[in-house]
Formats: sequence, structure tokens, C-alpha cells
Amino acid sequence: MNLDQLQKMLSKDFIFGASTSAYQIEGATKVDGRGASIWDEFTQKKGKIAGGHTGEIACDHYHRYPSDIKIMQQLNLDAYRFSISWPRILPQGEGSINQAGLDFYKKLIDNLLEAGIRPFVTLFHWDMPAALYHSKGGFRHRDVSKIFADYVEVVVKNLGDQVKDWITINEPFEHAALGHFIGSHAPGHHSLGDFLKVMHHQLMGHGAAMERIRHFSPKAKAGITLSLTPIRPATNSNKDQWAAKLGNQLLSYIALDPLYKKSYPDLIQKQLRWFWPKVEPGDMDLIGQKTDFVGINHYNCEYASYRWYIPFLKSWFSGTKVASSESERNGRRYTSMGWEVYPPGMAEVLRWLREDYGNPSVFITENGAAFDDTVKAGKISDNKRIDYLKDYLQEVANAKKSGSQVKGYFVWSLLDNFEWAAGYNKRFGLVYVDYQNQNRIIKESGHWYASLIQQLKKGQEAPTTQQRSFKQ
Ligand code: FCB
Repeated sequence: MNLDQLQKMLSKDFIFGASTSAYQIEGATKVDGRGASIWDEFTQKKGKIAGGHTGEIACDHYHRYPSDIKIMQQLNLDAYRFSISWPRILPQGEGSINQAGLDFYKKLIDNLLEAGIRPFVTLFHWDMPAALYHSKGGFRHRDVSKIFADYVEVVVKNLGDQVKDWITINEPFEHAALGHFIGSHAPGHHSLGDFLKVMHHQLMGHGAAMERIRHFSPKAKAGITLSLTPIRPATNSNKDQWAAKLGNQLLSYIALDPLYKKSYPDLIQKQLRWFWPKVEPGDMDLIGQKTDFVGINHYNCEYASYRWYIPFLKSWFSGTKVASSESERNGRRYTSMGWEVYPPGMAEVLRWLREDYGNPSVFITENGAAFDDTVKAGKISDNKRIDYLKDYLQEVANAKKSGSQVKGYFVWSLLDNFEWAAGYNKRFGLVYVDYQNQNRIIKESGHWYASLIQQLKKGQEAPTTQQRSFKQ
């Protein structure tokens, strides 16, 4: 990677950050009046999470956030993306407010602003309040889109003075598909119908939340975060190409089309017509209203093969398996999630947005890799992660040069954390967490990222804490 070239391509106000989410790092699941989430319940079920791990302690960020913010400063971060735990604010999902929950986030955000770090706040990163799941079925019920917006209103009214960048929902496809069809995530269902309902109702929830943010914090910027995973045909056969088309509609266009074209893609509507949820007049306008940006989480690509015996979808997608360790096969690199390292995938999703969806402003809200990190003499030499980040960032810069409106880039993740069904076994952090004693060690990739940010901003304002102080 050529730094001079990157410097030219990434404008002065380009934002460098790192991301986390509440359930994956906070811990403190039973303190200060927090209600249970579906992830608290799901992790108690036998065999669902590798090693039987839970988020009960996680990185104990709830108590350690002041020192974690010091680490963010050491990393030279401009911004930090985190999520708010809905059941910390509304323990029942709706109704009475838990002031202690709001106070926690107020303190966290105050500390960030003091440190000159801009908060990007995600309002739903999969931790649905358990009470709301039991009473209504979570996003399976249409009403929950409005209940979600009511929660967003509480948050925005209380934190809107401090926060100017909101993300309504993180990866609606993953919550819908992994949680309600594949069953590997909370709440663990296996229903195509539920998957589609949850998808539609989350997108409606996003639209309803946008309206509240616009109303209660008109100067704030807001958008949604989607995972975009290009699907390539496993062979050149017409059937595999058909499967890849279906795959792209199913994984990516299922959210992009309603958001930018106010309609769902044709092929999946046809194949899944028996399960299609009720779309009422006005739904698509609510979903497709204007946003300020789209957040993109991109990690990898997958392959599609035609399989006549798979009901309705008639396709099989690779990359659904979690590998036990990183590897290199046939000249291809794989992370310890079993995900192929394929940097042109980043160029491809940015090209989709540029050419097919009106070239919106974009933040890469997650990109990163899990590798089998080991500590040797107090150091973590994670060169594979550095290579991954360099290669993907180069693609971001190239896409910007081609006209993509990328405004910032966030590494997933700030810290090693609870990687959902894979538990603590998969480490994505720029910072290593020793779960025995909660010690943090900045990995070599973290040092690399800090110096990249420093160098790219050279010649701009010197990054002293005072000058970095973020002004609203
Ligand atoms: C994304 C999730 C995030 C993290 C990464 C690895 O799908 O948004 O919470 O688990 O994958």
C-alpha cells in the first residue's frame, strides 16, 4: 500500500474509527436495572454457543469504559461506533424507562467527546429485549417497528444533544436470517416466513426511527448499516449464475432495493412467494425515505451453486461454515471464521452503490478479520490482520477515486469480544483481551492503524488531544 497515494485519495475529513456492539463487549447484564435480551436467553441454551460462552461478563466494558477510551486515544481514532442496549434503556422493551441505563450512555458519550472522539451510535445491534420477544415475538410482529421507534425517541430525546450520528439498525439481514431461518443466532427459529417478516418489519422500524430522529434531532445525520456480501457463481454454468443472482438478491438487494428503490427484488419474491409478508400501503414509502448515509459492513464473498433439491431457494451458498482455524487453500487466504480474504469484494459492493443505488454517502461501518492471535513476550504480531486491513483499505481508497462517496472507515473491532455463536474463540480486535483478568494489549495491527491515522493526517491539524477535541 502506498501511503502517499492513500493520503491523496482520502480527504482531510475522512473519518477513521473502530466498532463494537453492546452485547459483545459490555457485560454487566444483570446490573443497574437492565432487562434481559434474547441473547441472554439464547446463550443459556445448550449447544448454541461454542464453549457455552455468554455475554454476562464479556469485556466488562460497562465498568472499564474510561480506560477503553484511553486506548481509543492511543489508537488515534477519530470516531467510535458502538450500540445501545435496548433492554438497558427500556427493560421491558416498551413502557418504563431505566434512568441508570441512560446515565451509563451519557457518561460514555461525555467521556468520548472530552477525548475528542466522535460517537457513532447504533440503536439496534440484535439484542432485542426478551420481554418484547415473549409478548410480541420481536420483529416478527409488525407493531414492533413502531415500538422500536418509540425506544429510539427516548434515546434521541436524552442523548441527542451529544450524538450527531445515528445508525438505526445493524445488519437487518443477519438478525432476520441467522436468528429466524438458520437458527444459529438468537432467538433461534427455523422459518422462512419469520425471516421475511422480521426483514420487512425491521426495515419499517428503520423508517419509523428515521422519522423520530429527524423530528427530535433535525441536525443529526442518520442511516442504516447493511452487510453486503457479493455472491459469485461457483461455476460458469447458467444454473450457478442463476443461483448467484438469487443469492445477491437474498443477502444484499433484499435491503438495498426497498431502501433505494422502494421495492423488493423480483426473483426472491417469486421463489419465496408462499412466505412473502404482508406489505401494506405506505410501507415502502416509510422504508425508502431519504437517509443521510448508508453504513456498509463488508467482510467476504461467497459462492453459489444450483441445488435442485433445496426447497424454494434451489441454491447453496458457501461460507456458511465457521472454520476452526485460519488457513490457505489453493492460493486463497481464509480467516479463522473460514471467510475468504478477497479485497476486490469491497470494490464490488461500493460499485453497486455507485452504479445501481444513486451513489449515496457511505461509511464502512465494519471491516476486519479474526485470526488465531497469540501473545508472545507481551506482544501480538498479527501481520495477517495488518495485510487484510491494508488491502481492503486500498480498495476503499480506489473506490473513492472512482467516485464513491466514502466518508469514513471503521475497523471491526476495537476489542476482541463475544463473537455470537463462535463465543470468545474468534478474535477480531485491534486490541487483545485476556478474558482471565480483562487486561488489554494493543496488537501490532492496532499500532499500525494508529500510525496510519497519524501519518494520513500529517499536515492537517496536529492530533493533540486538545486540537482533536470534537466540536459539535
Ligand atoms: C457482523 C456483526 C458484528 C460482528 C462481525 C464479525 O456481522 O455486525 O457484530 O459479529 O460480523
